[in-house]
Order: sequence, then C-alpha cells, then structure tokens
Amino acid sequence: MFPPTSGDLLPLFDRLGRNMAERRMLLQVEHSATLYGAGCGHLHFENVHALRVVLEALLKMSGLARRARKNCAAYQVEQVEMHFTALPIEFDGYRIVQLSDLHADVLIDQGAGIVKALSGLEYDLAVVTGDYRFETHGDYAPCLEAMEPILQALDAPDGCFGILGNHDFLEFVPSLERMGLQMLLNERVLIERRGTEILLAGVDDPHFYGAHDLSRAVGQMGRDAFTLLLAHSPEIIAEAERIGVDLYLCGHTHGGQICLPTGLPIIANTSCSYKYLSGTWCHGSLIGHTSRGVGFSTTAARFFCPPEITVYTLMRSI
Ligand SMILES: [Fe+2]
Repeated sequence: MFPPTSGDLLPLFDRLGRNMAERRMLLQVEHSATLYGAGCGHLHFENVHALRVVLEALLKMSGLARRARKNCAAYQVEQVEMHFTALPIEFDGYRIVQLSDLHADVLIDQGAGIVKALSGLEYDLAVVTGDYRFETHGDYAPCLEAMEPILQALDAPDGCFGILGNHDFLEFVPSLERMGLQMLLNERVLIERRGTEILLAGVDDPHFYGAHDLSRAVGQMGRDAFTLLLAHSPEIIAEAERIGVDLYLCGHTHGGQICLPTGLPIIANTSCSYKYLSGTWCHGSLIGHTSRGVGFSTTAARFFCPPEITVYTLMRSI
C-alpha cells in the first residue's frame, strides 16, 4: 500500500469539485492537527477520547465487556424489500448489497465473518457507504490493508461503488479504486439493464466535512431518471428529496451501537431525528435506509444493535 502522490490526488480534486476538495483538504489538515477541527456540527462523539475511556471502564466494571465485544461480530444479513412506482420495469427485482461503517482496521474477526456472510449472498450491485478507518485521523495503511479481502469478496455484475465518510481521507481513494471499489466523489454513473438506465450518485461526507455537492452528483438527469443516492449520513435527506432522489442509502449512525432493549439508542451521533437513525424510512416521496453499520466506533461494544449487512430488493409497484 503506497501513499498517494500529488499526481494521484490532483484528478480527485476535479472529480470532487474544486471548492469541496479545498474545503475537505483544509479540514483534514486542521483535524489532524487539533483532533477536533471545525467541521460541520458542534460535537463529534467519535473524537471524544474521554468517552472511550469512560465506556471501557463501565463495561469492565459491569462484567459486560466480553459480551459487548462478541456482539460486534454477530453480523446480521438484513433482507429489505422496497417498492417504487418510478422504478423501470427492467429493474424489478434488482438486488443491491450495502456495507457501511466497516472501520476495517479494528474488526475483531479481521473481517472473516463479513467475507463468509457475503459468500452466501446474490446481488447485482454492491455499495459501501463510508467510514473505512477506525480513527478519524492518523495512519490509514492498516485500514486499507484490512479492506482488501472484504472488497475481494464483493462480486457484483454491475460493479462495486463507494463513498467517503467522516473517518476517511481523500487519500484513501486511489488505493480503494485499485482494489476495485469505484468511488463516487460528488459523481454519478448510469446502471443499464436491457436498454434502460437508472442513475447511481454518491456524495462526499456531509457529517463532518460538509463536502457533499448534491446538485453536482445528481446532475440534470437525476431529476428525470430513477435515482439512487449514496450519502454517508442521513443528514441531507430533505435536500435529497427536494432534488428528486428516489432511494437514499446511508449509514454513519451505527444505529446507536449501544441501545436499550427496546432498540432505542443511548447516543445519536447525528443531527437527524431518531426516525432516521436505523432501518427503512420515508421522507415525503423519498424512501431510504440507514444501515446500523458493519463495524464499530469508539470501542468494541454493541448492545441490542447487531452489525448489519443489507441486501435490498427493488420492486416496481403500480
Ligand atoms: Fe461516520
């Protein structure tokens, strides 16, 4: 895994859009220097080291640390059927697998359980919705190395597409793309089936970097064609609905990661209402799903919130 050169990075600035690229690079440098940076929002729990220390101490004292850790590798495959009147008939039954928030460098099984779960799944398209690294700063070689077997296990006839999350740097892109994950940096591609196309768009992280450019990603065509948007967090739902997105897939929240037995999260690391923290939701004409994520952040602990690998089946409804 070689660090990218300026020759690798310059084309990414054009893909992302110069303004957003400048914003992201300034925040990356500032964040690395101060750990808190001045990104979007006020408090980012993933950067509060004290929370990790307190949580780990509480788990140890309560005798729940082992159970909490074990839960982090109890991957659940969620089968989600979604119905759309705007879906072209050629895409009726189309299947998409989503991985989100892998935080791959700290997975307690080094990803073996994810690879195993993927081997039993059938799908047309694969999407990875950001947060490849555990920390939000520092060395990224371990996370990229850990991503390799997981990306090798993704085998989708229509391709594997990814976006960046708030734990990720733009510098990850060349390596991820060399591993076969085509990154969407405020970009779009067309997915074709029997002469009909739908649009797949992906935006940069809206949670911390605020480097998402929805209009640039979706473009004019996204207002007419059936449009699937990948965004790291559910924080731009209203904007996406206004622009005419049909399906919104995201993660970031980990579903709360540590929940009450009712499934209610104790901490919601997003500015969204609880309705959008996990599972399938509607916002006006927009249908979306927030993944609970595959990995964990802060510390290896999950309660009443199992890690999720999602398989969507899109259905045309009349
Ligand atoms: Fe995130």
